[in-house]
Amino acid sequence: MLHRLKRNWHYLVVHAIGLGALLVLGYFYLSGSLVNPIRYFVLRSGTLGLIFLVASLACTPARRLFNWPGAVQIRRALGLYGFLFVTIHFAVYLFWENSLYWELIWRDLGERKAMPIGIAAFVLLIPLAATSTRGWQRRLGKRWRTLHRLVYLALPLSVWHYFWLDRDFKTWPWIFAVIVTLLLVLRLPLVRSAYKNRASVK
Ligand code: HEM
Repeated sequence: MLHRLKRNWHYLVVHAIGLGALLVLGYFYLSGSLVNPIRYFVLRSGTLGLIFLVASLACTPARRLFNWPGAVQIRRALGLYGFLFVTIHFAVYLFWENSLYWELIWRDLGERKAMPIGIAAFVLLIPLAATSTRGWQRRLGKRWRTLHRLVYLALPLSVWHYFWLDRDFKTWPWIFAVIVTLLLVLRLPLVRSAYKNRASVK
């Protein structure tokens, strides 16, 4: 039992954080204690979605840099939590903030340019979430890897969405932009082979 716990601790940590965050959101929803619940849910779900998606992107370089195979084992769970939170984010926007009032939504998409960018990022994530199972991975073979490269587009778009929000301070969008850029640079074949060689020298 203890042995299994030791071997699978990384799964436990991811699910504890993911489910914990969902519980906190659920608690605040039910408690009725929020002054502006719609704003609270839009902002928190957007931030959580972005954090989980970035963490999922960090898994492959983390495996190589720290020589830790466990990192890739939690990549899918992190990505799916990310997708779940951005789905909540989009649903709150559509159903709660705008009551599916299409005229209003259409006008908002025209006025706030960050919104269509967010939708583009979200749409790109749908096929990734839909084909995240082992069955789909097997069925698609090599095409699965190609398809999952869409995340390299979805994450910069997510950061762009964050950047274009009407904010006085852009510190957090900048922090995410630097992290995502670094993670994408680590994927470049030239850079990848450089740190792969360093790891094998150690
Ligand atoms: C991958 C997709 C997306 C990600 C990662 C994402 C992420 C974020 C983040 C990080 C924030 C800022 C949170 C904060 O300041 O605490 C945000 C705000 C927001 N997002 Fe998204 N978002 C996505 C898609 C969408 C979509 C599809 C919509 C709806 C069209 C949307 C609507 C909003 C709105 C209304 C806000 C608040 C804007 C404001 O403060 O004025 N997002 N999002």
